[in-house]
This record gives sequence, C-alpha cells and structure tokens, in this order.
Amino acid sequence: MEAPAIVTFTTIADQRAWSRAQRQAGKRIGFVPTMGALHQGHLSLVAKARAASDVVVASIFVNPTQFDNPEDFAKYPVTLDADLQMLREAGVAAVFLPTKEELYPDGYCTFVELVGPLTDKLCAAARPGHFRGVATVVTKLFNIVTPDVAVFGQKDLQQVLIINRLARDLDLPVEIQVGATVREVDGLAMSSRNRRLTTAARAKALDVPRGLELANRAYLKGESNSLKLTEIVYNELLIHDGVEVDYCDVVSLKGFAEKDTADDSCVLAVAAFVDGIRLIDHIPLGGPGIPEVVVDE
Ligand code: PAJ
Repeated sequence: MEAPAIVTFTTIADQRAWSRAQRQAGKRIGFVPTMGALHQGHLSLVAKARAASDVVVASIFVNPTQFDNPEDFAKYPVTLDADLQMLREAGVAAVFLPTKEELYPDGYCTFVELVGPLTDKLCAAARPGHFRGVATVVTKLFNIVTPDVAVFGQKDLQQVLIINRLARDLDLPVEIQVGATVREVDGLAMSSRNRRLTTAARAKALDVPRGLELANRAYLKGESNSLKLTEIVYNELLIHDGVEVDYCDVVSLKGFAEKDTADDSCVLAVAAFVDGIRLIDHIPLGGPGIPEVVVDE
C-alpha cells in the first residue's frame, strides 16, 4: 500500500500556517525534532509521537549553534531523500526543513541558556556552548511548530533532562515524552554518527556498551565505588588504539549530582572518541542492563 503523502516546509510562515490549520481542525500535534541521517532510533520516537497525537511533524535541521567543533558540523551526515522516505513510511504528516538563514537571520543574537547542575558536567563540560545551542533551537522549533507533545530519546539523556527542565521553567505548553534507546543487535546505540565509522572503528565502538554492561554487572555484585566502576569502562575502552575517553562519570538522576558512591538513582555515562568520531551512551545502574530496545534490521 502507498504510504500517505507527506508535506515539507522550509519557511517558518508555512510551518506555522499548517500547524494553525491542524489546531483549528481540533488535531493534537506531535513533534520529533532531528538533525536527519535518520535511523530506527528516530523512527521509534515517531511511533511514540503518533501514539500520543493525531498528526506528527518531524524537523530536520543540522543546527550550527550546537556544534562546538566546526569539523564535526561539516562532516555531519546528510541523507535527505532517504530521511523523507522513512518519515513518510513511518506516518509523519509534515516535515519542517528550515535553512540556517531562516532560523538564524542576520543580526540574530538571542540564546536560551540553563544554569546549574544540568549544565556543568558530562556533555556540557566537554562541549562548551552545546546545550545553549540545543536549548535555543528547540525553543525556536517549539514556537514555530506549536506541538502538544514532543518526543526525545533517552540516548541523549542530559539533553532530554535539559529540554524537560526548559519547558517547565519557561512555561512552554508542551508535554515532553522520552523514548528508550534503540540499539543494534550487538548492543551499539544507534546514532547518525555511526555511519561515519569504518568497519574497524565499528568493532571498537562496541567496547562502549560492553564496558557499561561490565560496570553494571560489577555494581550488581556489590561494587559501589564510582571510581572503580568508571575504571572498568576505561579499561574496556582503552585496550584499542584510536579510542579516547572524553568523560566517564557516575551521576545521580536526583539533582544530577556526581556521586563518589553509586546507588540505584545513578547512571554511568560515557562519551568516547572512536577514531575521531564521538559516541555517547549510558546505563542506569542496578537495572537489567543493555540493551533497552534492540532493532534487528
Ligand atoms: P539527533 O541526534 O538527530 O536526534 C534526534 C532525536 O533522536 C533526539 O531526541 C535523540 O535523543 C533521539 N535518538 C538518537 N539516537 C537514538 C537512539 N539510538 N534511540 C532512541 N532515540 C535516539 O538530538 C538531536 O538530534 C538534536 O540535538 C536536536 C534535539 C534535534 C536539536 O538540534
């Protein structure tokens, strides 16, 4: 059966007009913001958004203000035709595809910035300015798309916590939902950046979920010293040349504090460069471990 039609908008005015019409027709709008190079992880968020709304909008925009490294931005994969096909088949009704100039015209100078524990550690410390860019673009996208519900992946844990906080702090009329991390059968968390991994790097990248799994097993057996737990991850990752650990920390979801002694409120979070490509992952300590959701393509 033919997938239903999908509409695309490149201007703020057109996206707004469509959203207004949906609202006037009594439709609840679901939203999945992305940077494209889509995979099953993104599509799982679309499925969640569909279940919580009447019409789903996705956006594809490689947001320059959230990249701290110009090379990473320049090399970010772009697969627009395949993305639109996937979104159509997944039942997305509209895709917002703004240009850089549309979202950040000449003279643009307003940013959304959080302060406090959510933005002083892990990816925030490793990538200065990153979450300022994310918070800014997500606020703008919410104002343009006007969703009732927006879905984000748990894979980017700190990001979804920040967006949830920002929506509450700024009284944005949107419900934030979280989708579980979708993984390849071997445990590697799906990521648009995985496309840039060579076969050799892809094999090394598996050390990330493997290290987290080993540390969680040690925790389940009684090891609660955070340093020892992170050491397990370091040891697993550093056996290969070309793998560099950006950070590895035990953080409590209660107040997002770093903890010397781990407990069940904690996650073990890691960011690593594998042959120069940055991958992030985390595991909730004390849980059943990786994988959360596995997709066999
Ligand atoms: P992007 O990396 O394209 O991710 C879009 C959404 O997909 C995010 O909510 C992310 O957490 C989710 N996602 C990525 N990999 C996933 C996986 N393996 N399983 C489940 N969900 C996954 O995150 C961004 O874009 C940007 O920062 C954005 C929010 C769009 C702002 O520019």
